[in-house]
Amino acid sequence: MLEGYSQRKAAWEILLKVSSGMYSDLALEKVLLNYKFTSLDIAFITELSFGCIRYRKLLDHWIDHTSKFNHKKQPPKLRWLLHIGLYQILKMDKIPDSACISTTVEIAKKSELNKLSGVVNAILRNVTRKLEINNIPKVPINQAERISLKESLPLWLVYEMINWFGITETENIAKAYNKKPKIDFRVNTLKTTMKECLEIFQKNNIDVEPINKLENGLFLKSKPRSIRKLPGYLEGKWLIQDRSSQWVAPLLKPKKGDKILDACAAPGTKTTHLAQLIKDDGYILAIDRSDKRLKLLKENLERLDIKSVKALKIDATKIIDINPEFINYFDKILIDAPCSGLGTLARNPDARWKITKESIDQLIIIQEKLLENIVPLLNKNGLLVYSTCTICPRENNLLIEKFLRKNNKLELVFEKQILPNKDDSGDGFYAALVSYKK
Ligand SMILES: C[S@@+](CC[C@H](N)C(=O)[O-])C[C@H]1O[C@@H](n2cnc3c(N)ncnc32)[C@H](O)[C@@H]1O
Repeated sequence: MLEGYSQRKAAWEILLKVSSGMYSDLALEKVLLNYKFTSLDIAFITELSFGCIRYRKLLDHWIDHTSKFNHKKQPPKLRWLLHIGLYQILKMDKIPDSACISTTVEIAKKSELNKLSGVVNAILRNVTRKLEINNIPKVPINQAERISLKESLPLWLVYEMINWFGITETENIAKAYNKKPKIDFRVNTLKTTMKECLEIFQKNNIDVEPINKLENGLFLKSKPRSIRKLPGYLEGKWLIQDRSSQWVAPLLKPKKGDKILDACAAPGTKTTHLAQLIKDDGYILAIDRSDKRLKLLKENLERLDIKSVKALKIDATKIIDINPEFINYFDKILIDAPCSGLGTLARNPDARWKITKESIDQLIIIQEKLLENIVPLLNKNGLLVYSTCTICPRENNLLIEKFLRKNNKLELVFEKQILPNKDDSGDGFYAALVSYKK
């Protein structure tokens, strides 16, 4: 068997699962269960499969440039296999083209694409030949089309982004969407200290470093590996949390004894942060409408050994009817709303192909409903944070502006939008801190 065959085959299997609707991280997890790979192999498979998913548009464009048949006319299994070969040729400089081609052809030969292995060989060789003579696909003159193709983003999204932020910022964000995201941790100070956590990682030869300006933040410098196998995971000494998400809970200035509502809580990344900030001494009601996600929240509470949180399945838009005793009850409220996730496209490679303008419109209806129905639960001296992991202004600042125009007893205390960029800003995030006017 050719060297690297199984790794590339596993990457192809991930693409097949994602094309049938599975999330990329779940597909990766499922496929890896069938193999025994080293952490280096896993890093390679992740880069290859996630890269193919991100660059789908560009890879299709190359198929159209080199093959008799348009990518839409290729049998889907062949199209995804061609992506495996093409991505290596176009984006993985260290792998010789001959190895990219031979392993891809070998996968075709040993699968139901056997009869098409000649086609795979011909198309990939044609690509390398065209690259040698600089016969590359034409760069569109229109700027939006150019960014859409180069950074492999849906054209509608690029037009929206240009509308929101202008060309230069759109290019920066689009590039950041295609960067490998960092793996960030938040140290659970209820169980350990930053110093002890650093020592544990060091003892196990895992290179981590504190994140600038974040009291409890660390990031992984070593190659990514199975999170559950990292030292301290099972003991709940840390959890995974992106750096920009780590500044959301502190905005509420949580303190011992606070009564806090986390209205869209699961899987509890921010709930556990809130608990940490009140030293696990107070009352946090963490609600979510998804059973499956609440289960993850409860697992996190157990692993991190947190006692101050009560987790319940409740539709937050209805809580005011179900529990009228909560009107004016909470000192602090977090609404970490369901959103389009346009700040996290680097982390979720398939998301860019699933989000639509219409799905954003639907989300905005839910976001407005959540705010309208949750605000009456805040006491008159309380603080409320509305946050999202998107960069779409209609889900963020414009939504808050509209809400405050309708609710003139409330005011904006603070607002922050982080855009994904090349300087390791982390995911894109938005948060607004709101209180009653004094
Ligand atoms: C962005 S996620 C929350 C992430 C979470 N705060 C964290 O930091 O781990 C949004 C959550 O809102 C939940 N959700 C959506 N609509 C809801 C509703 N009407 N009531 C309660 N939860 C809802 C979803 O199930 C999802 O778990």
